[in-house]
Amino acid sequence: MNALDKACSLGFDVYGTLVDPLALAEPLRALVGEQAVPFAALWRTKQLEYSFRRGLMRHYVNFDVCTQQALQYTQKALKCELSPSDQARLIDAYLHLPLFPEVIDALAALKAQGHRLVAFSNGVEGSIRALLANVGVLSRLEDVVSVDDLRTFKPDPEVYAYLARRAGRSSAETWLVSSNAWDVIGAKTAGLRAVWVKRQADSLFDPWGFEPDLVVQGLDELPAWFARRSKI
Ligand code: LAC
Repeated sequence: MNALDKACSLGFDVYGTLVDPLALAEPLRALVGEQAVPFAALWRTKQLEYSFRRGLMRHYVNFDVCTQQALQYTQKALKCELSPSDQARLIDAYLHLPLFPEVIDALAALKAQGHRLVAFSNGVEGSIRALLANVGVLSRLEDVVSVDDLRTFKPDPEVYAYLARRAGRSSAETWLVSSNAWDVIGAKTAGLRAVWVKRQADSLFDPWGFEPDLVVQGLDELPAWFARRSKI
């Protein structure tokens, strides 16, 4: 293997992998008090469910709309009606979600190893670029690949093939890095390599008979692993 062969194309999931959507519990606390944690969790769950259902139904609306509609649902389900200005503030907070603490250093180390790093998300490209710029990580990535270009969502196999195509690599030479087990399984079934970022000790991997190529607790474990791999 020469140096170029050893360099990998790594696609980083955004929500839950680079930034923390559950951190919205913090601004929510002032609005819904004790419901803040369940509110943030249900909002995220519904946002994902809406994207899955939209993909299956082939009735596309973009991820910003899924997020907006999931917010409407969550307010009703938890009987916490928010004013239009509070809702607008929460949607704006989605563009300022905090990075997980190890992300910047890990991306810098992986980039120094020569890997090609891109964001790969269900999110709309403009929103993802704004979010990643706000948290200071956009300039560390070579590209932002959004499923919006295909008008479908993860885990449609098409979107993983698209990630590989955008990198000019085969699926088998393209890696997904994601904390979402369903995303990792989507990538594996589409023939990609995949790292599962098991951020919580009690996170479960769905027992579907697919396994990640690597499990880490944080992105900081990746540079050493890829360095060892390149020596094999
Ligand atoms: C993403 C969400 C689904 O694709 O985690 O960024």
